[in-house]
Amino acid sequence: METKNILVVDDEPVNIKILKAMLSSESFNVIQSSSGSETLKLIEQDLPDLILLDVMMPDMDGFEVCSIIKSQQDMRRVPILMVTALRDKIHRQKAMEAGADDFLSKPIDRIELLIRVKSLLRIKQYSDEQLEHLKILQQKNQKLKELERIKDGLTHMIIHDLRGPLTSISMNIELCLMKLEEDLPIRKYLENTGNLCLYLNEMIGGLLDVHRMEKGQLKLEIGPIDPKELVSDALEQFKPQLEAKQIDLSLAIAGDTPPFDADYRLIKRVIGNLLDNAIRHTPVQGKIVVYAGPDQVQKRIMIKVSDNGRGIEKKYRAKIFDKFEQVKLKKEGISTGSAGLGLAFCKMAVEMHGGDIIVGEGIGGRGCSFSCILPIRPDLNQVTVDH
Ligand SMILES: Nc1ncnc2c1ncn2[C@@H]1O[C@H](COP(=O)(O)OP(=O)(O)OP(=O)(O)O)[C@@H](O)[C@H]1O
Ligand SMILES: [Mg+2]
Repeated sequence: METKNILVVDDEPVNIKILKAMLSSESFNVIQSSSGSETLKLIEQDLPDLILLDVMMPDMDGFEVCSIIKSQQDMRRVPILMVTALRDKIHRQKAMEAGADDFLSKPIDRIELLIRVKSLLRIKQYSDEQLEHLKILQQKNQKLKELERIKDGLTHMIIHDLRGPLTSISMNIELCLMKLEEDLPIRKYLENTGNLCLYLNEMIGGLLDVHRMEKGQLKLEIGPIDPKELVSDALEQFKPQLEAKQIDLSLAIAGDTPPFDADYRLIKRVIGNLLDNAIRHTPVQGKIVVYAGPDQVQKRIMIKVSDNGRGIEKKYRAKIFDKFEQVKLKKEGISTGSAGLGLAFCKMAVEMHGGDIIVGEGIGGRGCSFSCILPIRPDLNQVTVDH
């Protein structure tokens, strides 16, 4: 074990001599100081492992020295053992208030001194080790954050650069389709490939939007919206899937639904994501209801997509808004072929408008529902996005 440095502070040379003699049986390195001011100077240069501090000293008493040391961030970890001739409670209390770690009364008993010194040194050793671990963890954390930043930048660059070639592929498919005769069977494969390109393009758009929202770089383009027009528009692209799964979709727009201000493109994509999820998780011949109406809270509108599909267990409901989270399906080992980004996008987009998105019960005790609550006139200065 490395030699521990003990600073003995006393204005009486004879007392220092006695303490040094008592400590000599152990391999401590004893440093000495005869006043408060000298002690503070010594500690500033080099921190000892423990201080044995006399109370009664002429220039600055031990209580004062102790409170100065304990008020300094870089010094306070050094344990202070106060040595006092005074047995009364008031002085013990004063020593504790000054931040002393323990105290000894004169005349000093050698065994008692060694027990206290060793015990305080052991505690200090543990705390030093903890501090060392904390430093290592902080450094690792810093490194991880830096790597995460680099990885984020790289991913963003790759996603961004995918768009160019993808657009070229789509255009080439379009050209081929224009040149091919109507009844050629190969058209079907090309059309499928074209649709997959559109899907990939949507996915890339979603990733880029989430990235922009996280960085606070996405600016909302707020304009007046007719709820019925918005919902019908969002539904349009899902007609083939609804038909294929024979899903019974009903649209319910309350008569008193007010027009509201929002970013049309973003909110349409929010509803699109909710519909996409509802269709995917609802069985053949299932039921989906899209409702729009005024919210219970005044000056807010609610757009709600409910289904009677497989639903989401309550314990997973808070998690599904995290990026890349596909809770239950992932656990069951079923691949969805999707990114797990839709709801994270929805939450951020709705929050950017000062709104909220709530997951709740579905239709007839089955499935689930997602309600987007949006202010009719968003106050963009008040908005905070949680991600
Ligand atoms: N209507 C729903 N019914 C049942 N589970 C749902 C429903 N909507 C979302 N979920 C669950 O929440 C998870 C997260 O949904 P989210 O839309 O974020 O991702 P995704 O649909 O898997 O992928 P992406 O939307 O990026 O294509 C889904 O994987 C699914 O497990
Ligand atoms: Mg989704």
